[in-house]
Amino acid sequence: MRVIICEDYNEMSVRAAKLVACQIAIKPNCVLGLATGSTPIGLYENLIEMERVGEIDFSGVTTFNLDEYYPISPENEQSYRYFMNKRLFSKVNIDIERTHVPNGMTDDPEAECERYEKMIDEAGGIDLQILGIGQNGHIGFNEPDKELAPYTHITDLTPETIFANSRYFESEAEMPKQALTMGVESIFKARKIIILASEGRKAEAVKSMLSDKITPKCPASFLRLHPDVTLICDKQAARLL
Ligand code: GLP
Repeated sequence: MRVIICEDYNEMSVRAAKLVACQIAIKPNCVLGLATGSTPIGLYENLIEMERVGEIDFSGVTTFNLDEYYPISPENEQSYRYFMNKRLFSKVNIDIERTHVPNGMTDDPEAECERYEKMIDEAGGIDLQILGIGQNGHIGFNEPDKELAPYTHITDLTPETIFANSRYFESEAEMPKQALTMGVESIFKARKIIILASEGRKAEAVKSMLSDKITPKCPASFLRLHPDVTLICDKQAARLL
């Protein structure tokens, strides 16, 4: 894994945006895997600005998001579909039909997961996957466990994740306790991966990912086995390395 340690969040976001811009320049009809959470917001802001000044063009790009809460409506401001529309899709020249987020309203989650995985394959697979990392080492919503599910699946969120993410909801009770997420194998099928980490609260997870055992107790540790992963983090997230 390549490791780029940046001065701060802003530099991390700019470095990541340049790599995404290169991907779009090399292959204008590329497939991007996208993530939510607070970490990639700066990356998306930089991409919006790069398109505004004519440096990139999203018109040929297809996207697949990693995950979505379950159950949740796309109109719910905490849904990942709402987040992506607000933070990126409504601000760039992308065909909304080519943006994909698992359907948090489905009444058949297993079928939805199967459909989602198939759509990624039919689009030719992901060229560049963006990831964040949970404080417990999760990627997407692949939570620490005894074993990891390979493909897109429905999962129970851990109490740690419910606690960490409930800050976005009115109350913990309103936060969905399950999610639909790409699996570790779905993520591994991406040709290139960029994982972002910022703030001291991610330092433990970054350290486990890079230097402890490769274990399903830290799903991100499996990324060390992928041939093309770049970690871009700020100094605080790297402080235990
Ligand atoms: C969520 C998402 C992850 C994300 C993580 C970190 O749980 N499912 O994809 O990486 O949180 O979020 P943040 O960037 O807000 O710390």
